Amino acid sequence: MTGLPGEAHGLRFDVRAGRRERQTIVDLPHLRLEPGELVALAGPSGSGKSTLLYLLSGLLVPAAGTVAWAGADLAAMSETGRDRWRRDNAGFIFQNFHLIDELSPADNVLTPGWFSSLSVKSLRHRAESLLERFGVPRDRSHVSLLSRGEQQRVAIARALLFDPKVIFADEPTASLDGASGALVVAALRDLAAVERRTVVVASHDPALLAVSTRTVALDHGRIVQPKALEPAR
Ligand SMILES: Nc1ncnc2c1ncn2[C@@H]1O[C@H](COP(=O)(O)OP(=O)(O)OP(=O)(O)O)[C@@H](O)[C@H]1O
Ligand SMILES: [Mg+2]
Repeated sequence: MTGLPGEAHGLRFDVRAGRRERQTIVDLPHLRLEPGELVALAGPSGSGKSTLLYLLSGLLVPAAGTVAWAGADLAAMSETGRDRWRRDNAGFIFQNFHLIDELSPADNVLTPGWFSSLSVKSLRHRAESLLERFGVPRDRSHVSLLSRGEQQRVAIARALLFDPKVIFADEPTASLDGASGALVVAALRDLAAVERRTVVVASHDPALLAVSTRTVALDHGRIVQPKALEPAR
């Protein structure tokens, strides 16, 4: 199973700024994403990286333009259709994790499986092995008892529960130190380079940028200097 090709055209997202004005948050004429790529969205805080990830994953609907994955236009789908598309194809690692504090690490990883027809036993096995892979303590009753870096790794494990074809990762190493950061960087690199998934990350982390196949630099929602880097090793 490889990734999906994605293509955005004429993508625009704006918000109300004052009574009559609108502020453009993302304005992107064209972006193509291929399986096997690890594309890094770079740029200063507020440049639109998270918003672009939300648009590319269908969590946000653009004011104009299209986002299509393997030809399937997300904007043409109903909200339920987009949810289903994400469940079947994508994993999203949120900048703020969005974990459920009252649940254990494993139960958090299992939340995308609540409505799945797969066996609970096999999903739990996969959740446990993902947590183990990322070095997260599995014996805590509540995820809120974990450190922030551990919580980040729970969020990463949750995004990978269904072995997604497309991975969206918003600052996935921001709370991690050297060793656990390297683990996550290597995992994202392998998802692209070895498993040929399509990986899009927003990041300032030099270690993550170093393994990306391409950097898309944003400033005020616009691409400023798309820069080709070495292919992922
Ligand atoms: N719904 C919204 N309403 C108003 N402003 C918004 C909304 N969503 C995003 N913005 C603004 O759009 C800009 C881009 O935000 P975004 O979160 O995409 O930036 P970012 O590049 O991810 O920043 P960071 O590196 O801090 O995570 C910011 O100025 C933000 O305040
Ligand atoms: Mg952000």
